[in-house]
Amino acid sequence: MSQRILVWDLPTRIFHWMLVLSFTGAFLTGESERWRDFHVLFGYTVLGLVTFRLIWGVIGSRYSRFSEFVRNPVYVIRYLVQLVRRHERHSVGHNPLGAFAILLLLLLGIASGISGWAVYEEIDSDWLEAFHNLTSTAMLVVVFIHITGVLFSSYFHGENLIIAMITGKKRGRTDQGISTSHPLITMLLLTALIGFWIFAWPGVKR
Ligand code: HEM
Repeated sequence: MSQRILVWDLPTRIFHWMLVLSFTGAFLTGESERWRDFHVLFGYTVLGLVTFRLIWGVIGSRYSRFSEFVRNPVYVIRYLVQLVRRHERHSVGHNPLGAFAILLLLLLGIASGISGWAVYEEIDSDWLEAFHNLTSTAMLVVVFIHITGVLFSSYFHGENLIIAMITGKKRGRTDQGISTSHPLITMLLLTALIGFWIFAWPGVKR
């Protein structure tokens, strides 16, 4: 019997919403010289969050692990065909297509963060700046695809995935749920985040 079970642990949820915040912040401040320090702060936060997520993808709880949602491209294409025919199955964790967009976002986050750091450190080269612009714009495009996918999937499966990314709970069998939200790792992640912001917040004299 299907009921609400815990699928997303707390570190994954905090990672997600902090990534939304820092990506949006970095994007909005990217063009302006005046907001440069904030752009750098948000950019480093994206880089730190994605690094955390790469580690959590190996040691985290069941549905956050790469081994649970990284599929070979044939599987993704098969899922796409099922989706078009409306025969796709409900996924307890990420669906194969959504997972593909998520991997792209993580890769682009790393590429954009590292190239941004190199541009900021004046490792002078025009192509680095062009690469930084390209990866950030590509990330924005994938974010729109990601949000569209989330909305469609929520509608067709009658399950609000946005609420699920807040509460951590989705539909499933009791034996499919995870048993802990990892409060200790959550504390460490939040401490690192808040500590970094206090330390690096623009305009604070130390
Ligand atoms: C307000 C806009 C957004 C909403 C409503 C949203 C919603 C969601 C939802 C519901 C999921 C879970 C999907 C599933 O059930 O398989 C998810 C996962 C994810 N989203 Fe978003 N998202 C938003 C913006 C973003 C942005 C801006 C980024 C990156 C810059 C992003 C990156 C990710 C990543 C990496 C995951 C995978 C989470 C994990 O496994 O760690 N999202 N998002």
